[in-house]
Amino acid sequence: MTEKTVVNERVLGAYEGFVKHLKNFLDEQQFNHEEYTKFVEWADRLGRSGEIPLFLDVFVETHVLESKYKDSPGTEPSLLGPYYEEGAPVLEESPFVMPQREDEPGDKLTFRGNVSSINGPLAKTKVEWWQDDADGLYSNYDSTAPDFNLRGQFHTDENGDFEVHSIVPIPYQIPTSGPTGEFTFAAGYHAYRPAHIHIKFEHEGHETLITQVFFEGDEWLETDVAGGVRSSLLTKLEDHGDHKEASLNFVMRTE
Ligand SMILES: [Fe+2]
Repeated sequence: MTEKTVVNERVLGAYEGFVKHLKNFLDEQQFNHEEYTKFVEWADRLGRSGEIPLFLDVFVETHVLESKYKDSPGTEPSLLGPYYEEGAPVLEESPFVMPQREDEPGDKLTFRGNVSSINGPLAKTKVEWWQDDADGLYSNYDSTAPDFNLRGQFHTDENGDFEVHSIVPIPYQIPTSGPTGEFTFAAGYHAYRPAHIHIKFEHEGHETLITQVFFEGDEWLETDVAGGVRSSLLTKLEDHGDHKEASLNFVMRTE
């Protein structure tokens, strides 16, 4: 039986490029067979533990993004990460209050942003927001909070402006009990990410922008285990007594 296959040039090109660079890498590293076998065992544990997305999002995704976007105009993307969940509650009324528990622990946050295009103002952009809670945990994953706690989606106004009321995210550690943690510590890294808000923008005719917002002065900015920090994604957290305020503007690229 013969089956006609259509060659996917992108797959073939990527594989050939990978092998070319792999050969240089191996010439440089000179692994012995025991090291190779240990790597295979670790990769097997990684797959069985379900941590492949975690590992790749922490240690690879940021390099993919940097390579593609470092010199292009518009807001720099940062990693989507493993904690995005589709179907967050749709918030209709501005200011948009993130779904939260009664007496949600943490400092109250008012965040103001604006979304525009590299070509000018943008109205009614779809925004999705997700973040950790005051325990450093994400709803729908490792937190005991109700599903979609501190997750929401909404639209900017006619001028691209939006205001969110939530809590201030805190730095958190990526999971360390499995093969990803094993690698992290073997390499001598810590497991912390600086506090950040995940945010995703969608607008017709524009490339979807997935990025993060970070806060000046965070102790983990320079050594983020996932390397997701970009200077253009930093904002100041201002103290307003009973709450904190921050703001940042975002620029989307046309498709
Ligand atoms: Fe995160």
